[in-house]
Amino acid sequence: MVTDQKLREELAKLTVSGRIIREAPVSVAVFMDTSVSYHREKDLQAIGACIQNMMLAAHCMGLGTVWLGEILKNKEKVEELLNVPKELDFMALVAVGYPAREGRSERKPLNEVILKWL
Ligand SMILES: Cc1cc2nc3c(=O)[nH]c(=O)nc-3n(C[C@H](O)[C@H](O)[C@H](O)COP(=O)(O)O)c2cc1C
Repeated sequence: MVTDQKLREELAKLTVSGRIIREAPVSVAVFMDTSVSYHREKDLQAIGACIQNMMLAAHCMGLGTVWLGEILKNKEKVEELLNVPKELDFMALVAVGYPAREGRSERKPLNEVILKWL
């Protein structure tokens, strides 16, 4: 969890979504611990589920989050900046704060994204 303003500013410089990192008081960096990883695809799915759960839990507490993946283009720089052990593989940053406004997104209708074998 990164709250230090200087560190957040350094992270912000590593992505086009820097404004979100600057404005949110907290950023949660998510890593895969490759020393206990046993199946990369399943571990990646588990990490995605973990991030989603964190976001849902934050939402229940009245917080807003943004999943930031674009910063992965600078994965090595993030790992260096946060000075993590080499077995930790940076996966995503989740910015957390109090939402400035209510948001609503467009969603495709369910029948456009479900394949049926009847
Ligand atoms: C894997 C992943 C990576 C993302 N990376 C970014 C990012 O780097 N910058 C950004 O502004 N939004 C990013 N987003 C999108 C925001 O998190 C987005 O606000 C969130 O998915 C909500 O989407 P919605 O507006 O469709 O509800 C990413 C989303 C996902 C799922």
